[in-house]
Amino acid sequence: MPASPIRKLVPFADAAKKRGVKVFHLNIGQPDIETPKTVLDAVRHSDFKILEYSHSAGNESYRKKLVQYYSQVGVNVNHNQIIVTTGGSEAILFAFMACLDAGDEVIIPEPFYANYNGFAVEAGVKVVPITASIEDGFALPPIAEFEKAITPRTKAIIICNPNNPTGYLYSREEMEVLKEIILRHNLYLFSDEAYREFCYTGTHFSAMQLEGVDDNIVLVDTISKRYSACGGRIGAFVTRNNELIQAAMKFAQARLSPPSFAQIAGEAAVDLPADYFDATKALYQSRRDLLVKRLNAMPGVFCPNPGGAFYAMAKLPIDDADKFCQWLLEEFNYNNRTVMLAPATGFYGTAGLGKQEVRLAYVLNENDISSAMDCLEKALEAYVALIA
Ligand SMILES: Cc1ncc(COP(=O)(O)O)c(C=O)c1O
Repeated sequence: MPASPIRKLVPFADAAKKRGVKVFHLNIGQPDIETPKTVLDAVRHSDFKILEYSHSAGNESYRKKLVQYYSQVGVNVNHNQIIVTTGGSEAILFAFMACLDAGDEVIIPEPFYANYNGFAVEAGVKVVPITASIEDGFALPPIAEFEKAITPRTKAIIICNPNNPTGYLYSREEMEVLKEIILRHNLYLFSDEAYREFCYTGTHFSAMQLEGVDDNIVLVDTISKRYSACGGRIGAFVTRNNELIQAAMKFAQARLSPPSFAQIAGEAAVDLPADYFDATKALYQSRRDLLVKRLNAMPGVFCPNPGGAFYAMAKLPIDDADKFCQWLLEEFNYNNRTVMLAPATGFYGTAGLGKQEVRLAYVLNENDISSAMDCLEKALEAYVALIA
């Protein structure tokens, strides 16, 4: 089981904090935005006598509310096509378990959300990465790369749109290309749309909006980032493939039910005013602008402008991202402050890639991002001299 690149340096961060050093956490996608009050109030004011199991597919009232949410974002589904899961994490696991046998292969453009590796290990599935390059801003690799990677054991392709860790927003044209590939080879497309609302350079086009491929598409979703409700542990597995939803239901029944409280929160969240996302999106966008500008102004640093989500990948003038990220926590501070980053190596499936890259999550306020960038600038000066 691989260690999470996002969390494996936590002991070094804890030690730095014990030494009195302030650590800016740009390593993890935990937003600092408050969960909307009406969403929390729905839980606070709910009155029940038993904290009981819900339906294995999730409360029907919540699934019906999700139908309303999806129709607002241009996706038509009914409540029987939705299974409420314990976070998007469980939806990804259900997709692997219900669609692939042990030994089957899944193609994922890399760098990718690192925990896909962990879920693949749990399901006995082999991850076959195809590389998207930082120089192209992490655009979808050409069809030829997919065709080269497809074997008789290939069963699925996973994309995350907009992407974690790259921030890349797939265009409608790229989604149509994926559709061609999955139809030609009869594959599943798992589309992780956790960050759907946070698109800055274009509009989001969901895999569920592709026509004529209903049986091949699985949408994996979550309320974690959308409403800053990561601890609620509520996600969704969505497909119009009837046989597949039946198969996934067996996994849902085996784990009994998703969390009760946060389904109430999720249901209330669908009624947030339409402008709720305008404010959060604007906030993330100005943080992104600040972060990307500061990074690209540093000597030897390159950071493509992310089109969505709240992550950026940057190439740094360093020898080894894992070493550098640990050094930042163990050896470095600037005015008693340092910054925690996620080394990009863990987001690649190909060994040796990402050694000069880090992922930064712009989930802190602009003052903190500025201070974190001051630290990183000083740190790079010192580190470059050290390895020269
Ligand atoms: C792309 C992506 N998918 C899925 C998840 C899992 O989210 P959760 O299990 O909190 O819903 C995350 C969390 O960071 C993510 O970034």
